[in-house]
Amino acid sequence: MTFAAKIGEVPNFGKKVVTVNGQEVLLVNIKGTIYASENECPHQGSPLTAAMVKNDFISCPRHGYRFSLVDGSCGDHPECTLKIYPVQLSGDDILIDLG
Ligand code: FES
Repeated sequence: MTFAAKIGEVPNFGKKVVTVNGQEVLLVNIKGTIYASENECPHQGSPLTAAMVKNDFISCPRHGYRFSLVDGSCGDHPECTLKIYPVQLSGDDILIDLG
C-alpha cells in the first residue's frame, strides 16, 4: 500500500488527481468512501479530471462512457474497463495498492 493523499485533500463528492509512483491516480470521495482509479479513460484516453460522479459511477466527459468506481466495469461498453485500485484508510491517510 502506498500513500496517495490525506483524506482532507479530497472533498466530499469531489475528486483529486495525485501522482503515485509516477502514475496518475484519480481519487474520488463519495460520502467518506474513497475510490481510486486510473485517470485516463480506457475508451480513448481522455483525462477523467472533469468527469461527472454520481453515486459510485463516473462518466467520462468526452463520450459519456459510465464506469463503476467499485469494479471499473462499463455496462454499455463491456469491452472498456476502468482500472480501479484498492484503497485503505489509515488515520487521515489514503493508501492505495497499485498492484
Ligand atoms: S474517451 Fe472516455 S468515453 Fe471516449
